[in-house]
Amino acid sequence: MKCKTFFAFAFLFLCVIDFSSATAILEGERTNPIEGKNGMVVTSHFLATSSALEVLKKGGNAIDAAVTAAFALAVSQPRSGNIGGGGFMLISSEKNQKVVAIDYREKAPGNASTEMFLNENGEADSNLSRYSHLAAGVPGTVAGLALALERYGTISLQEALAPAIRLAEEGFIVTPRFSNGIKKREERLKKWKSSRKIFFKADGSYYEPGDRFIQKDLAATLRRISIKGVKEFYEGKTAQLLADEMKKHGGLITKEDLKNYSPDIREPVSGKYRGYDIYSMSPPSSGGIHVVQIPNILEGFPIATHGHNSAQTIHFMAEAMKFAYADRSEYLGDEDFVKVPRKGLTSKTYATALRERIDPQKATPSNTIAPNNPIPYESEETTHFSIVDRFGNGVSNTYTINFSYGSGIVVEGAGFLLNNEMDDFSAKPGVPNAYGLIGGEANKIEPNKRMLSSMSPTIVKKDGKNFLITGSPGGSRIITTTLQVIMNVIDHGLNIQSAVNAPRIHHQWLPDELRIEEGISPDTKKMLAEKGHTVVQKSSMGAIQSIMIKDGKMYGGADPRRSTSLAEGF
Ligand code: DON
Repeated sequence: MKCKTFFAFAFLFLCVIDFSSATAILEGERTNPIEGKNGMVVTSHFLATSSALEVLKKGGNAIDAAVTAAFALAVSQPRSGNIGGGGFMLISSEKNQKVVAIDYREKAPGNASTEMFLNENGEADSNLSRYSHLAAGVPGTVAGLALALERYGTISLQEALAPAIRLAEEGFIVTPRFSNGIKKREERLKKWKSSRKIFFKADGSYYEPGDRFIQKDLAATLRRISIKGVKEFYEGKTAQLLADEMKKHGGLITKEDLKNYSPDIREPVSGKYRGYDIYSMSPPSSGGIHVVQIPNILEGFPIATHGHNSAQTIHFMAEAMKFAYADRSEYLGDEDFVKVPRKGLTSKTYATALRERIDPQKATPSNTIAPNNPIPYESEETTHFSIVDRFGNGVSNTYTINFSYGSGIVVEGAGFLLNNEMDDFSAKPGVPNAYGLIGGEANKIEPNKRMLSSMSPTIVKKDGKNFLITGSPGGSRIITTTLQVIMNVIDHGLNIQSAVNAPRIHHQWLPDELRIEEGISPDTKKMLAEKGHTVVQKSSMGAIQSIMIKDGKMYGGADPRRSTSLAEGF
């Protein structure tokens, strides 16, 4: 069923309220998923959802729809949708019984160095790694999407780019979320003439809800790519504009870096959880390994019996999360540069050893937890969307420019924002990145290396069939958000919309706090505190756009934590 009424209602609703950063789900939110039989698209922007759904309706497959959605998001949601960043795409084909991972994460420029963000006192300068031209990694999005289309799609790059070009050229009506997002980041965006020109009116005033937002430079860039192909971005005029931008402002990315960039097809990380097969992103993401490792630890506890978001369930989850994030700090990095003990970290035996250290009654203080030793077991504002088609393909894609609006820097003349992904490297061992994540040697900056990510596009299969397509933005919280939707469905039997809506929790080892969203009951919080947890309620976490397939029906669950999210099926 195409949910036209919901779409119309959602749009009207958007015009009056934006709850994208609300801590709780509003009363009266959707609790039933959107249903479909032939295709389902769930993205964080209704314009991307409808562009992609159109592709499926015309007979395109999920990969065609995914690439179309990604380009449409680059125009309609510039805070995270992008061509100046990078990401990961998981594709599952039931027909071939294969799941592949496309790694189009940014790479450090060839002239990057381990000490590039350290000041004269040897301290990490987060201003440089987040808000300067040095913050940008070599973008991978255009190459990654084109590779996905070429290998697994059926439509041309021109066809996939057409809706995005139209949206950029003709513009679209500004929503409250769009307008508020720019107001919130005004300082960052106004600092650069090229960004000011795009995101503010000529007199410096704001685009308000109801205004039309046109992006001429971005339209021209997308049109050039459409006519000349991927090479245009990496070797053509766009490459020149990007290299000029870098030269003018002391950035590192050269034409050589752009020419040398290539995406990779990788083997996803996989594991089993209560009879389901989990596939998720491999390094340079840490996500997949921990999306398998944490359930491995939890599998030994009767989670369903303890109940959804009960104090006991949350306690076990938080304890398992701490071990995983401690290991992340030590072992995870780009596998092209460091050996990641994948098998050890995801082995059931290692998980058992970690589980045995969990006291059911007492929280283990983080300062007594160190990265463990998985090696002996060796033998053995980001945005996510999920799409399925009638041919048995599922696509789970997360891509990003890191912060909302990345570094805030638009490439002069090219109309797109640059990522600030270099901040995801460990600027100095032990110094946390913007998400409080600690890294070490494995994630140090090296030329042409990919920075560690938490993005975890995930596909869960049951008996060889795609069952759950999911993934989220949210920095360090991506892994735990993804984990909870998996558990909400498998352990607690929630429908996909309720699984997405349910209040979430998060622990990342350091800082030693159990972060919760609004909606966890007061007595649960009290019981967790009694077990020794420092419970802290903060703003909402993630925006997990998910699809569940059951008995031949597709169910879409869009995350109400983003007011523009939309699931549509047919
Ligand atoms: O790759 C990563 O893990 C981060 N750069 C993702 C950033 C993110 O999710 C921001 N979104 N809310």
